[in-house]
Amino acid sequence: MAKLTLPANSRISGQGRTYPAPAGAKRTKTFRIYRWSPDSGENPRFDRYTIDLDDCGPMVLDALIKIKGEVDSTLTFRRSCREGICGSCAMNIDGSNTLACTKAIEDVKGEVTITPLPHMEVVKDLVPDMTHFYAQYASIKPWLQTSTPTPNMKERLQAPEDRAKLDGLYECILCACCSTSCPSYWWNGDRFLGPAILLQAYRWLADSRDEATGERLDALEDPFRLYRCHTIMNCATVCPKGLNPAKAIAEIKKMMLERA
Ligand code: SF4
Ligand code: SF4
Ligand code: FES
Repeated sequence: MAKLTLPANSRISGQGRTYPAPAGAKRTKTFRIYRWSPDSGENPRFDRYTIDLDDCGPMVLDALIKIKGEVDSTLTFRRSCREGICGSCAMNIDGSNTLACTKAIEDVKGEVTITPLPHMEVVKDLVPDMTHFYAQYASIKPWLQTSTPTPNMKERLQAPEDRAKLDGLYECILCACCSTSCPSYWWNGDRFLGPAILLQAYRWLADSRDEATGERLDALEDPFRLYRCHTIMNCATVCPKGLNPAKAIAEIKKMMLERA
């Protein structure tokens, strides 16, 4: 897969700053990090931070937290859970979209280049603007839709084999690593829903308890929303949870054909 490094509004020409390793450090690593602040009026730049690996946790997020805490408090990034669950630390590391909290520093040879998720507008530094992505998520109505009364006023039960059909779908953490590595999403992201949102759409189509299958398929029946996927497969390659959005998209297309 081609290496992806720059966000949509990048023009790297600002003068980067360099922060050397602390005195006495024996095992060091340099992080080359995209910096841009809307308040500065300056062009984006790359800053270089060299840190002591003997005084740092093993993951790229550990290094970012160390840099922010001890070297440069202006460095801005999102993170929350620190264990691959919240999806907020998604960024491009060494040319690939992934989660900073599950990416081991030692897996990157040489300098570690870090940029925001590609082809997103940047809020600041490593923080992409997720507004459009979340609006697309809301558009697929990601909740159980039913028209029949709940049986005996209790929960809607699901057979184990029906529940198993949600495996490989419910684990999605909406990190957007897949969508922002999809060339079709780069080019048509205003109208193509992209792999993450389509995987989520299929998660509800595949749910035996949901009663809005027809309406859900109607909403996807559009030259752009679904059919811009050209099976390039970047999405499945990068997903940090090991999911396969391209397969979910193919299942939706199959459902479209079966009802035609
Ligand atoms: S398989 Fe489809 S959704 Fe996935 S990266 Fe390729 S074009 Fe995008
Ligand atoms: S499918 Fe994978 S890469 Fe895409 S949003 Fe979900 S967890 Fe992230
Ligand atoms: S901090 Fe939550 S996924 Fe990385």
